Amino acid sequence: MTEAKNPWWRSAVVYQIYPRSFHDSSGTGIGDLRGIINHLSYVKELGADAIWLSPFYPSPQVDAGYDVSDYTAVDPMFGTMDDFDLLLAEAKVHSLKVIVDLVPNHSSDQHPFFQAALKAGPGSPERAMYHFADGRGENGELPPSNWGSVFGGPSWTRVTEADGQPGQWYYHLFAREQPDFNWENPAVVDYFEDVLHFWLKRGVDGFRIDVSDALIKDTSWADTPDASPIIPKDEASGVHEIYRRFRKVLDQYDGDRMAVIETGAADDVVAQFLRPDEMHQAFNFRFLKTPWDAAQFSRAVAESLTAYESVSAPTTWVMDNHDSTRSVTRYGSAVSLIGDYVPDVSGLEALTAEQFALGTRRARAMALLLLALPGSAYIYSGQELGLPEVTDLPDEVLTDPTFFRTEGKQRGRDGCRVPMPWSGSEPPFGFSPPDASEKPWLPQPEQWRDLTVAAQTEDESSMLSWYRELLELRKREPVIGEGTLSWVTDPFAAEKHQRIHVRLTKEGHRPVEVILNFADTPVELPEGELLAASARLLPGPVADTHLLPGNTAAIVAV
Ligand code: GLC
Repeated sequence: MTEAKNPWWRSAVVYQIYPRSFHDSSGTGIGDLRGIINHLSYVKELGADAIWLSPFYPSPQVDAGYDVSDYTAVDPMFGTMDDFDLLLAEAKVHSLKVIVDLVPNHSSDQHPFFQAALKAGPGSPERAMYHFADGRGENGELPPSNWGSVFGGPSWTRVTEADGQPGQWYYHLFAREQPDFNWENPAVVDYFEDVLHFWLKRGVDGFRIDVSDALIKDTSWADTPDASPIIPKDEASGVHEIYRRFRKVLDQYDGDRMAVIETGAADDVVAQFLRPDEMHQAFNFRFLKTPWDAAQFSRAVAESLTAYESVSAPTTWVMDNHDSTRSVTRYGSAVSLIGDYVPDVSGLEALTAEQFALGTRRARAMALLLLALPGSAYIYSGQELGLPEVTDLPDEVLTDPTFFRTEGKQRGRDGCRVPMPWSGSEPPFGFSPPDASEKPWLPQPEQWRDLTVAAQTEDESSMLSWYRELLELRKREPVIGEGTLSWVTDPFAAEKHQRIHVRLTKEGHRPVEVILNFADTPVELPEGELLAASARLLPGPVADTHLLPGNTAAIVAV
């Protein structure tokens, strides 16, 4: 199918739903598909164009559903396939596109393919679906390489063969319950093409591709100095060929079906995955990981725009997701809390009232930049409520494999996954029905009574009202989110930066300027009509002029 000239995903605002934490319609303490259906109007009223659902497939839930045991079904914990079809139909009624998660790097160890591989033994086609290898040492008692797992500990686990003896090892980039597929085996590619067809036929609009760049491994399994795995990403590795195959599948369907990839690679490597015959867009993790600093943010914005433009792909803007310490907490405390992959939040303290106020003020300013810059923007549910990271979850409730695999040294990502507060003055804050038999799967802080959707809807100065205002403005003035960007401040200037200041233009629309003041001291605003400001402006030096205070952003039509 041919694509529209300006397909929806190029500037879509996508709202990420973490199904287990969004809304629990059945009282189990865990969110479900019906809960999502019941709150689609909330997402629509917020002003998003699409939803992305983190995995809802059958799974032993070792890694919160990113360990899939059946790629073409719904976990009963979340509902049924009928519920999913209803969700798609209802989303259509609300004009919301639906993106689902595809987890191709690894399956659950309970997936029938892996179970068959365990039974079939060395050298079998079943084992060739995954990465099995003989161990080193006299009796194969040492792992095939020194590579470590992203979640801590080794990335190889030894199996017991049918004769009851210790046998081969299998490779897992993440937890031992997440064996990696062997993507050099055409049977794996064929299988995932079928999975794509399955969901495309049902009517999904796109896929979010998990760990997209790690599919091909260096199977010489050579030891590395720092025990990290070797993941080839160049043309010769075959990984780009996989995405060309995926693209052909997507293009067989109408309606501009798309894929957004998860990769932590550098901008220029990511761009290679976004060439016109590969995938459509990638999460901009550089934006997410940049600490509160004008110079670093300027470079991140400028360099990502350049890299993506080089392959005619739109840039995305990402501030939060289910793997990262929540932005209010990051911007409100002095330290940068994002590790290389999984944030290390060990020792992270709850914010003081002052830090919470600062983090919130900065998150409001950053939301303006996120939604004003040209491209597509992602909002992780709860971000629009300004939820902080929950830092005091007791050990007993933690579920992240990182916590277990590092023996508690890293607390993991549960603190950004605490269920949404909808209404009321005490937990479960409308997350579960009043007669629920179970408590929410992670406890919500009492203080969230002030952050519920209901409380914030009443309050014009709330984070939720701010997101609604910004998204409404984005619709009203298409130069916002879609314009061509030019710099007023030099993003690469060597002198100390205080602000980001850009101009956006679009034929047939009035230009706007977007300014984010990272410092504590005010800066002058350009003359023009103020369209939005994340905090109250200060009086300027002469009558009718205004200054932009510190930690604040504004959009001015000029
Ligand atoms: C992705 C997911 C993360 C998961 C990991 C392993 O990074 O976002 O939540 O733990 O992949 O599947």
